[in-house]
Amino acid sequence: MDWFERERNSLIQFYRRQKVVFVKGKGCWLYDENGKKYLDLVAGIAVVAIGHSNSKFVEKICKQLKNLVHVSNLYYTIPQILLAEKLKEITKMDKFFFCNSGTESVEAALKISRKVTGKKKFVAFENSFHGRTMGALSVTYKEKFRKPFEPLLKPVEFVRFNDVEDLRKKVDDDTAAIIIEPIQGEAGVHPVSREIMEEIFNLKEKHDFLVVFDEVQTGFGRTGKWFGKDHFGFQPDIMTMAKAMGNGFPIGCVGVNESVAEKLEVGEHASTFGGNPLACTASLATIEVIEEQNLVENSAKIGEYFRRKLEEIDFVKEVRGKGLMIGMELDVDAEEVVKKALESGLVINNTDEKTLRLVPPLILSKDEVDFAIEILASMS
Ligand SMILES: Cc1ncc(COP(=O)(O)O)c(C=O)c1O
Repeated sequence: MDWFERERNSLIQFYRRQKVVFVKGKGCWLYDENGKKYLDLVAGIAVVAIGHSNSKFVEKICKQLKNLVHVSNLYYTIPQILLAEKLKEITKMDKFFFCNSGTESVEAALKISRKVTGKKKFVAFENSFHGRTMGALSVTYKEKFRKPFEPLLKPVEFVRFNDVEDLRKKVDDDTAAIIIEPIQGEAGVHPVSREIMEEIFNLKEKHDFLVVFDEVQTGFGRTGKWFGKDHFGFQPDIMTMAKAMGNGFPIGCVGVNESVAEKLEVGEHASTFGGNPLACTASLATIEVIEEQNLVENSAKIGEYFRRKLEEIDFVKEVRGKGLMIGMELDVDAEEVVKKALESGLVINNTDEKTLRLVPPLILSKDEVDFAIEILASMS
């Protein structure tokens, strides 16, 4: 029996996987069980920001692994405090809570919003993706994801993407929070307009709700700035993070401003694993490498170069995104392109039949972009 058959026999079939078994990674490259090399432009879906097997990341984790992996949040641990202090600096949020994934960070954001405002209603956007747990799923748009699990949280209203008029109609005095991705990721990389952001903050003055930025995918340099919000200059009340935060080591986080934090009390929310010393060390190492190697700047610069090159490819109709968060519309079958690319040693991802998404490691070089472009252009 090969690995594909063994997987079918032993795992719930929730995933449709590409036919490849990866066993090793180094930098932007992955290796399969036969030693074949692939350029990784998916990076675990916007996760492996500093690349695979970064030596500083590995060393710091190994050292922490030998000292202390886990104690309960009933006690103080140093990496958790150091990480919160570092996040304060780069996010400009005031206080943090650690969890283990993006969906958990959204779950915390929703709970906090209801507690702090005393209101029930959430406003999200069409085509949004915020996760798969019951709360996060309630503010996720896609019918296919929601339907089998209803009833979900109520009330939730979805606003047409980038439609200011529709936003005005759907927000009212019962709104606890508006949740928004600064660039919609799972929908195929669609940036939010400045007009929508401005209107959200205008309406906040009138209706006194909280603004939640879901930065799970857009965080940690992905868009060519530290966070998606930095393209707009607006500071949310609550911010969610995960994905690149631990470079693949599971960690998520919710950041809040001081006026939210002061309304939260002991015992209202918690996590057994959240913020353990190993996960926090992985995250601190990731942020340190992003800073040392100027990866936020590299994301902006290489992203720009990549988008320009992609626009020259025949079957590409439109290229979108910021930094190394790139989406493109094709006039050919995107699934076919993904399959052919894989055979040629290129790992890419499609979000639907016509849309490709590229979210590579932020260490990506110009030569690696050229390698990818050569393969994609040869498919024209
Ligand atoms: C914006 C956003 N929020 C939340 C999530 C859920 O994160 P996780 O898969 O870590 O639960 C994702 C995952 O793709 C996401 O892109």
